[in-house]
Amino acid sequence: MGKTRIAAVDVGNDSLKGIFGKMEYELNIPNVIARDIEDRPVIGIEELDSKDPLEGIHVKVHSPALKENNVIYRVGELATKSDNATELDPGSSKSEEDQTLVLLFTSLALDAVREENAKVFTRNQNVIDANYTLGTGLPLREVKEGKDAGYRSQLLGSVHQVEFLVTPKYQGLKVNLKFDEIKVYPEGFAAFINLVMDNDLNIINRDLIDKRILIQDIGGLSTDIAVIKNRTVDDDRAQGFNLGVSEALEQIREEIRVKYGVELDSRRDVVDIITKKHDRNHIMVKGSRTSVHDITDRILFDLAKKQYRLLRNVWQKNSQTEICYFVGGGSVVLKDYLKTLNNSLDGYNIDFFEDEKESIWMMANAYYKLISDYVRKNNKPEDKGKKPVESK
Ligand SMILES: Nc1ncnc2c1ncn2[C@@H]1O[C@H](COP(=O)(O)OP(=O)(O)OP(=O)(O)O)[C@@H](O)[C@H]1O
Ligand SMILES: [Mg+2]
Repeated sequence: MGKTRIAAVDVGNDSLKGIFGKMEYELNIPNVIARDIEDRPVIGIEELDSKDPLEGIHVKVHSPALKENNVIYRVGELATKSDNATELDPGSSKSEEDQTLVLLFTSLALDAVREENAKVFTRNQNVIDANYTLGTGLPLREVKEGKDAGYRSQLLGSVHQVEFLVTPKYQGLKVNLKFDEIKVYPEGFAAFINLVMDNDLNIINRDLIDKRILIQDIGGLSTDIAVIKNRTVDDDRAQGFNLGVSEALEQIREEIRVKYGVELDSRRDVVDIITKKHDRNHIMVKGSRTSVHDITDRILFDLAKKQYRLLRNVWQKNSQTEICYFVGGGSVVLKDYLKTLNNSLDGYNIDFFEDEKESIWMMANAYYKLISDYVRKNNKPEDKGKKPVESK
């Protein structure tokens, strides 16, 4: 058997976050795909060499795990520019969508084709055989329904192929993906691990580990609140809601368009406007600096109120909770509003992450810690110490 590489991948509804190898490579790809019709030339060939592969991901994916096989997709940036782009629907199950697998396989293939990995994986002409040990996750809700087992086994059992079509730099390369091992963690549990343990799974937060805590993860399309007690995630109490920040971002974009005639390209542009350090909440209108604070304030404050209601609801049912951590990209955007609300309302003990990257990469970091620990223990069977925390 060839060499294997570690991959920790969080397929978020808004974007995929992946950490590879010894953390020397990271990927963040918008979770957007668009189907392509066979044989249709999509990008000008002249653009192929100069462009960043991530801006032109165009692949054909072959895998028995897919419901629809051998379909050609534009993925990420390239798909956002397409008029038939699909984003995940809030009601859907991550584990049962082809879109989740397309994103996952594409991210692994993008790691595998890198020149730096030429020594790791065998390459026969244009075909690369890549082995991964994968740590990933599913929402608590799906793990509760037992969907993790099926998700894992369909991945483990076969070879999955990503063929790069009109993708800059990688056109014509095929990657055969195989998995040595796959661990599927429940998302809430993973966030807890990241809070209390370092990369070697040593406890870094003794103070926190035996507390009753809530973790409210505000994502693009959904919000999950995990309930942690006795170092475990209480599956029965965890709650998932179909409420994220994407809708509010879209609404801000629309109101700016209507009021000022300014077309922002994407939700990402809205995030920049509301989070930038300089000139926050300002845009340029015909060359004049203009405040959009009234629009962003109203819409974000509304969303924060809804999020606060969710917290209140869960806290009421778990009255002995000691602290709630807000994570996810949505928490970055809503932080100030939630703090203001909390000060004037219930005054719960709540906390945020100062570093926005930490908040957004929480799950991927946790999967990385868990999967590397698994690999370490497996390579050195003599130090099979009892893990201080178990997922069930
Ligand atoms: N610094 C930032 N970088 C990127 N996105 C951000 C940032 N701050 C806020 N966001 C926004 O936060 C939202 C949620 O992002 P996040 O990555 O947490 O969602 P996700 O994990 O992909 O989605 P879900 O949890 O619903 O599956 C996105 O709409 C994103 O635009
Ligand atoms: Mg998320």
